[in-house]
Amino acid sequence: MIPKAVSHVLRNELVPVFISFNAWKCSNCRASLVPNGARRYSVLPPTTDSEEKAMLDRMLRVDHAGEYGANRIYAGQMAVLGRSQSGPLIQRMWDQEKYHLQKFDEILAENRVRPTVLLPLWNIAGFALGASSALLGKAGAMACTVAVEESISEHYNSQIRALMEADPDRYEELLQLIKQFRDDEIEHHDTGLEHDAESAPAYGLLKTVIQMGCRAAIYASKRI
Ligand SMILES: [Fe+2]
Ligand SMILES: [Fe+2]
Repeated sequence: MIPKAVSHVLRNELVPVFISFNAWKCSNCRASLVPNGARRYSVLPPTTDSEEKAMLDRMLRVDHAGEYGANRIYAGQMAVLGRSQSGPLIQRMWDQEKYHLQKFDEILAENRVRPTVLLPLWNIAGFALGASSALLGKAGAMACTVAVEESISEHYNSQIRALMEADPDRYEELLQLIKQFRDDEIEHHDTGLEHDAESAPAYGLLKTVIQMGCRAAIYASKRI
């Protein structure tokens, strides 16, 4: 029988990494990439030219990276605060991030989009950010959540604007998905504020530094 701690690590730490790695590794075997029981997801129209394909690839790559990083941040927070009173609250947000990541894993595989090569870095950096913010206590974890979720929801808003300007009918399904995820991120942001984020030590500085990191991560993940 596998000890509980080992099965926890396998389930929460290794499986999400494996799924993302698989999406990159198997760009030619679409059928095997859809997790068992999940419905096939189709949010993108067939692309008409290489410019459109490049634009959509960049969007999906950075969205996938963001959701992957968010998952690692919540994993880090749960490693520190999982057994505290804040555990169930953080777990609820993490569960939504798992769903977001699963959707982007599916979309990347289905559309043969390569994930960013920076995933191993976001794996470590995300977990470290989550764990270190949680070491400041619940308020620190919530301050991190506010900073990150504000950056991600602003990022989604700018994508929504770009797709609306390009062709709202053509990208209707993708817009619907991004709007739904944007609303979830805003909810996470508001949850952080409702749970004492602003009383974290050096809240303003912490938020500014984390958001600078998020902007750099978004910039890099779009490109490589
Ligand atoms: Fe998310
Ligand atoms: Fe979120």
